[in-house]
Amino acid sequence: MSRQDAVRALRGRLLWFVGDPYGVGAAAHRYVEDGLLVIADGLIRAAGEARALLPALPAEVEIIDHRPHLIMPGFIDAHIHMPQTQVIASYGAQLMEWLNKYTFVEEQKLAQQGHAEKLSRFLLDELLASGTTTAAVYCSVHEKSAEAFFAESHRRNTRMIAGKVMMDRNAPAALTDTAESGYAESKALIGRWHGKGRQLYAITPRFAVTSSPEQMAASQRLVAEHPGCFVQTHINENRAEIALARELYPMAADYAGIYEDYGLLGPKSLLGHCIHMTKREWRAFAEHGAVAVFCPTSNLFLGSGLFDWDRARREGVKVALATDIGGGTSYSMLRTMAEAYKILQLQGQSLSAFEALHAITLGNAVALGLDHLIGSFEPGREADIVVLDPAATRAMAHRLETARDLAEELFVLVTLGDERNVVATYVMGELAFRCSTN
Ligand code: GUN
Ligand code: ZN
Repeated sequence: MSRQDAVRALRGRLLWFVGDPYGVGAAAHRYVEDGLLVIADGLIRAAGEARALLPALPAEVEIIDHRPHLIMPGFIDAHIHMPQTQVIASYGAQLMEWLNKYTFVEEQKLAQQGHAEKLSRFLLDELLASGTTTAAVYCSVHEKSAEAFFAESHRRNTRMIAGKVMMDRNAPAALTDTAESGYAESKALIGRWHGKGRQLYAITPRFAVTSSPEQMAASQRLVAEHPGCFVQTHINENRAEIALARELYPMAADYAGIYEDYGLLGPKSLLGHCIHMTKREWRAFAEHGAVAVFCPTSNLFLGSGLFDWDRARREGVKVALATDIGGGTSYSMLRTMAEAYKILQLQGQSLSAFEALHAITLGNAVALGLDHLIGSFEPGREADIVVLDPAATRAMAHRLETARDLAEELFVLVTLGDERNVVATYVMGELAFRCSTN
């Protein structure tokens, strides 16, 4: 290692994944009790035993001692709405009423000068405080909302996927674009932001209910012209939503068929919810390599239903995990996994702590096709890192007195953990959040 490029090293208990622990167990993770993570130029240079790596480190390298805390790759959230940070915790409605009564009202405020900037700053602060370093983000229909979000993310050097929502019907006039304007604004944003620094674009027709066939065709053109971009939308979340979508697209085989007919089901397509899926729809997802995005706290809060993860596995469909703020109720991917566990319990399915922690790091990176960049401590990966104190709360410290091994400790972390466990978050090796009390 040369002197000048070894900028920093973090010392602590390293935990990361090299594969999916489902059915494999311990072979899929790496755990180093007294580990050192060496970072050079914002990338992982080495991850291993401190005693093996320390002698080779030049004396002037800064070593940040996080012992006895856990050091993991930054968490990834595969579906979140920037305009809904003040919609979260809105009472008493299921999806369609919730959209009309709360969400579409709040999203109109993003037309006001400075509001998208304020919400973007808030969201990025909150994500980093929760240990989340990458997210797939819905902005509002306003082109400026995506502009504001990308500008703020670029300033912080966070790797974010985002897009301007396209919606040209079944919403207040102030919240609709047209097939043409949605196309033109999305295209302009792609030109300005896709691949700029760490920013990536997601073509974002909100869902079949709010996009006309003309807008779906415009989305299809965007995908054909920009195959490197993601696609994000919603599907099969709620029975009334499904009935409406089917009514609006009577020629489609089913809900998935609507997106399929417009070329919107592909390996870079992230489809939120996927709760009420038919056999044919699972097959279509598997065939096209589309990603089912499981949003546990949202599915419970909006009473949408129970995501069948085992079924997705059996059908060979990729699954990503997400908060879906503001249908979701926590920014924390740890809390999200605690609720995922309960949803699976209700269906007689299981989720180990290793599976949960894999899902929100390497698993989501793989689902997003970004595992060559983020999600693990393999050399060369971007140094997005979360430092966790599993004993951060009284209840957790008390419970951990009886934990006998790493698996038990991590299960306590996943079941009782949230943003209070985050000691520090690093973005490309730079400190981006530090807890003031830990
Ligand atoms: N379906 C269409 N839009 C939305 C949204 O904003 N949140 C959720 N949960 N579902 C949706
Ligand atoms: Zn959503």
